[in-house]
Amino acid sequence: MKSTLSADEAAEQIRSGRIVAFPTETVYGLGADVWNIEAIKNTFRVKGRPADNPLIVHISSLDQLSPLVSGIPDVFYLLAERFWPGPLTFILSKKPEVPDIVTGGLDTVGIRMPDHPLALELIGMTGPLTAPSANLSGKPSPTKAQHVRSDFGKKFPVLDGGPATIGIESTVLDLTTSPPEILRPGAVTAEMINSIISAEVSENKKNSSRKVKSPGQKYTHYKPEASVTWLHSTPEPSGASAYYILHSERDFPPSKNVYAYSGDFSALARDLYDHFRNADYLGYQQIFIEPLPDDSVHPVVSALRNRIQKAAGE
Ligand code: TXA
Ligand code: MG
Repeated sequence: MKSTLSADEAAEQIRSGRIVAFPTETVYGLGADVWNIEAIKNTFRVKGRPADNPLIVHISSLDQLSPLVSGIPDVFYLLAERFWPGPLTFILSKKPEVPDIVTGGLDTVGIRMPDHPLALELIGMTGPLTAPSANLSGKPSPTKAQHVRSDFGKKFPVLDGGPATIGIESTVLDLTTSPPEILRPGAVTAEMINSIISAEVSENKKNSSRKVKSPGQKYTHYKPEASVTWLHSTPEPSGASAYYILHSERDFPPSKNVYAYSGDFSALARDLYDHFRNADYLGYQQIFIEPLPDDSVHPVVSALRNRIQKAAGE
């Protein structure tokens, strides 16, 4: 099997019941036909993903919604109009026809229209695709085709669309509760959502005392082999044995294992998982990350903090 392919060839693979990785603006997804139970089982199997962790269904046009969901609230249309295609997944009531394996037995389903021309072209040819992030369960999500190949080798082909531009998984917004609730923060923030629907959408920061509503959130995630620690004191001078990710200008000798972002949080989000993988590849035991500023400083800070906290085991 060829390891790279065109959108036409990827569509052909999906139609023949196989799985294919494809690019999105957030992270690469591992696509399967939403109606093909064997292909979806295969997705869970190759990733080593627990069966109760539901998949997001990816669509390329609003026409594809009606076989999947029912009782769509009005706020959905307002938000989809503003944020789709884009990094926002809606949790909606599912139609009974949607296979239980897709939703881990839940009566809701996550739906997203990704903002990537190859993803939209592919899904336009195949119809809706389930797609978890195309990484081995527990590894950082893949933001480059190479990351997918390093986790899976040639187990399935990869439609290569270049590096993901956002680099952090979509915001997951539950529209089956009132007010709606953010189950996973992403590049679309509570503030942006509230400004469209004038609601009091909040972020479910800790799933602690309540029922875990987004089952994926209870599993270990985004974890490199190296330990991830907030950098609370002045780092060692260059030649240090750790990997550093900084975002402010600081007095720090330039070194090959120091990555400084000077306030560019979009670039930091885009590169975060690549750094995690790179640090492991280079054999670093520790990754130090400069503590983040207030959420209000940049829209992606809240999502970045969430992913780094998980990687740090907090
Ligand atoms: O940006 C993204 O969302 C990427 C790209 C490929 O689109 N996909 C992604 O999928 O991150 P995955 O499977 O790695 O994460 C999906 C998350 C999990 O935390 C899962 O529990 C949650 O969405 N989820 C999916 N369906 C759900 C549902 N019906 N109710 C609650 N949470 C759901
Ligand atoms: Mg994932």
